[in-house]
Amino acid sequence: MKKTAVCPGSFDPITAGHLDIISRASKLFDQVVVLISVNAAKHTAFTLEERVALAQKATAHLENVRVESSDGLLVDYLRDLGDCVIVKGLRAVSDFEYEFQMALANKKLYDGAETIFLTTGAENMYLSSSLVKQIAQFGGDISGFVPDCILEEIKNRLVK
Ligand code: PNS
Repeated sequence: MKKTAVCPGSFDPITAGHLDIISRASKLFDQVVVLISVNAAKHTAFTLEERVALAQKATAHLENVRVESSDGLLVDYLRDLGDCVIVKGLRAVSDFEYEFQMALANKKLYDGAETIFLTTGAENMYLSSSLVKQIAQFGGDISGFVPDCILEEIKNRLVK
């Protein structure tokens, strides 16, 4: 098994579902890098710096987890890092096509890019950053949807 897991994503913002995958990966791998990346298809509500800061705060209790950012191709980051594997969470069948496409494209671009999927916790099946943003923007209760330590920050930033 490779020693470092890279968990890439937009993390706009990091959710309880993301944190569950990251903390489970931290038990399976020596090191975990949470890689805040650019998804060209998405307009983000939080800046890259804000997303990094939120992810750092949410993962501060996990000793072997670090947060980095990249504004380039994931495969370039992986190539530079060396011995590592991509770890992503899969919620439902609806995620599969999108994740499968990315995994295959990354593998085609760089043969060393292997992707491993962890099934999401049943309690997080419905959860996504987009859902969190929609609920928060209209003043809904997002406690339990995002890590407690960043709840107020996210609310303050998103509530209209
Ligand atoms: O959380 P997301 O938005 O579904 O994550 C997608 C992300 C950011 C992992 C993906 O868009 C990505 O890897 N972006 C970096 C640029 C890149 O390598 N794009 C090609 C992916 S096949």
